[in-house]
Amino acid sequence: MDQNALKKLVGEYALKYVNDDDMIVGVGTGTTVKYFIDALATIKHKIQGAVSSSEASTALLKSYGIHVYDLNSVDKLDIYVDGADEIDHNLNMTKGGGAALTREKIIAAVAKKFICIADESKYVGVLGAFPLPVEVIPMARSYVARQIVKLGGTPVWRENVLTDNGNWIIDVHNLQILNPVEFEQKLNNIVGVVTNGLFAARGANELVLGRANGQVEVIKR
Ligand code: 5RP
Repeated sequence: MDQNALKKLVGEYALKYVNDDDMIVGVGTGTTVKYFIDALATIKHKIQGAVSSSEASTALLKSYGIHVYDLNSVDKLDIYVDGADEIDHNLNMTKGGGAALTREKIIAAVAKKFICIADESKYVGVLGAFPLPVEVIPMARSYVARQIVKLGGTPVWRENVLTDNGNWIIDVHNLQILNPVEFEQKLNNIVGVVTNGLFAARGANELVLGRANGQVEVIKR
């Protein structure tokens, strides 16, 4: 099966987690999540609505007539469904390829269960081959980049991209992230960093993995 077909497969499979009437569903961002949103639309009468991690997902949810709640008005979120750029065997992830990492990390923090949906190409032994996104306050870009070099990474400014929060993205190349929790913390400690795309302190609870042969495997943390 090609990658797109696998994204559709896992996006549709994740509907199984929307199993309580009147649920509010946490919705991520990206091409895999788009398939989840398409599937969610088919049961929209059963759910209360969604909270969304990006303007793009919000627009798609609304186009289907799914109510999008402000996260501040939601005190309980059972599930958050999102993709990843890479996910390791302990279900630590790198995210932010679509520049939505900050809102994604906030919703992930609120949700009881993070369900990651991914095709097999994202499942890796060691994170870091995919450049790690870091959202920065614009005036701190050069300073943050210099600190990243000291940590062993090669920072590249993602020019012409403004996040939904009005910030900039630095993609960190040439990493081999052997201790994800520690590295996430180190990046967080750099002044001017809003969020980094390592989801290790709060990784996924379950991975819905689309295998190249068309099988879906569910891996639990
Ligand atoms: C967006 C993300 C996405 O989940 C990640 O980039 C994967 O995207 P896709 O499903 O399009 O491959 O973190 O910020």
